[in-house]
Amino acid sequence: MNKNFRHDFLWGGAISACQAEGAYDADGRTLTFPDIVKRIDPNQRQNFGQAWITDKEIAEGRTGDLLDYPKRWGIDFYHTYAEDIALMAKMGFKVFRFSIAISRVFPHVGDREPNAKALAYYDGVIRECRKWNMEPLVTMSHFDPPIEIWENYGGYTNREIIDYYYRYFKTLIDRYHHDVKYWLPFNEINCGLLAPFKGLGVCNGEGVEFENRRWQAIHNQFVTAAKIVQYAHQHYPDLKMGCMVAYVTSYPYSCDPRDVIANEEFDRITNLLFLDVQAKGEYPYFAKTYFEQNQIHLQIEDGELELLKQGTADWVGYSYYQSIVTAAATDKKERTSGNLTSGLKNPHLKANEWGWQIDPDGLRYLTNKVYDRYGKPIFILENGIGKIETLNAENTVHDDYRIDYLKRHLKALKEAVQDGCDVIGYTWWGPIDLISSGTSEMSKRYGFIYVDQDENGQGSKRRYCKDSYAAYKQIIETNGEEL
Ligand code: BG6
Repeated sequence: MNKNFRHDFLWGGAISACQAEGAYDADGRTLTFPDIVKRIDPNQRQNFGQAWITDKEIAEGRTGDLLDYPKRWGIDFYHTYAEDIALMAKMGFKVFRFSIAISRVFPHVGDREPNAKALAYYDGVIRECRKWNMEPLVTMSHFDPPIEIWENYGGYTNREIIDYYYRYFKTLIDRYHHDVKYWLPFNEINCGLLAPFKGLGVCNGEGVEFENRRWQAIHNQFVTAAKIVQYAHQHYPDLKMGCMVAYVTSYPYSCDPRDVIANEEFDRITNLLFLDVQAKGEYPYFAKTYFEQNQIHLQIEDGELELLKQGTADWVGYSYYQSIVTAAATDKKERTSGNLTSGLKNPHLKANEWGWQIDPDGLRYLTNKVYDRYGKPIFILENGIGKIETLNAENTVHDDYRIDYLKRHLKALKEAVQDGCDVIGYTWWGPIDLISSGTSEMSKRYGFIYVDQDENGQGSKRRYCKDSYAAYKQIIETNGEEL
């Protein structure tokens, strides 16, 4: 079958404010959780699974040595955005996914008016995208809750935070609806389960009390997302509102039915629950059972369940980097790391230095599964491979492994299209090197564009094209026909 990607397929790349912008204290911005996450010891790369943060680390992070916290300087995108966007445009990008930081636009929960300097900055970013005919895809919240929401409000568990984020989301949509058609309220909303501090501003805890707090915060995020989707649909019907999870793709360890059932249960709570609420508009039956079994009692206000129904997303997005294996009994089985999680090793797959198992076919498998369940257009919002790289004497990087990863994943995605899935776009994660979310390392590089900067923020900060730059450019030029 010759079916190819749609003629209007949105090829592009994705970054986030908290990993790229830097300028952590510029123009009134307040401190956020990623600003106080330390770089991990490289020896821990393979052990890295769930990311947690403790109250003690927050206290240390406020006063600690700047060098420990690389996200504070990012890649200085705050000052280099025009040239960085030009480099991406010259690769042929049709879409550029980036996030806006609430800590810039509404630095404090109590703020009633947005920060004019912050909006002027984002006006510039959007203007540059438009200048190059790239669709901006705006993530309104990407792993960067201000510390203030934890310190003074207890994180997203507090309903006041719904109003705070809603005020911010509405400000963005009212201001940018002419120029931005694709919107995403929350990056990987299931990180509320996998790494609660990242999205919810909730520190680690234990037991029933913590589970109630965490799930209440997740519910409050669902409500915020539905509210803004409903608002956008009512006021600006042309806007395309999305939803997203970090889809932790998993396979059963064996054909033992108990392994298969364990894997299904894992998938339901980790991924499907989050997409069901946002794409179907209701909590699935298994969520109710899970809550009962774990003594979780959500405080659901009048009208909220109706709101979830009305505020469903127009398209379904996910990140896909790797897959894991699950089993009914996990003891004595070899583990490996992954995006926001860890799981069992798959003997059929190879992994990168961080233990993320490379699995192109999994993208086809997953895309069919999601399209079958929701029947809504699919957007692959993140995909990519982190590697340790240095610039060679010719001022480039021969990253054939990245070209290979890219092509194999796109081939698998094209197969999903040939299976009949309606895939509308693909944004590679980190088209320009940036700070790793999970480990805060600069040396975990994803880019087609190399940034000359080391772990301590030292270097010329100049940008150089790797071999993959030309490869992706060609893929876009031919609409993925030659892979
Ligand atoms: C996703 C996040 O979970 O994975 C990104 O949305 C992140 O912010 C990406 O950068 C890759 O993870 P890492 O830990 O390699 O940066």
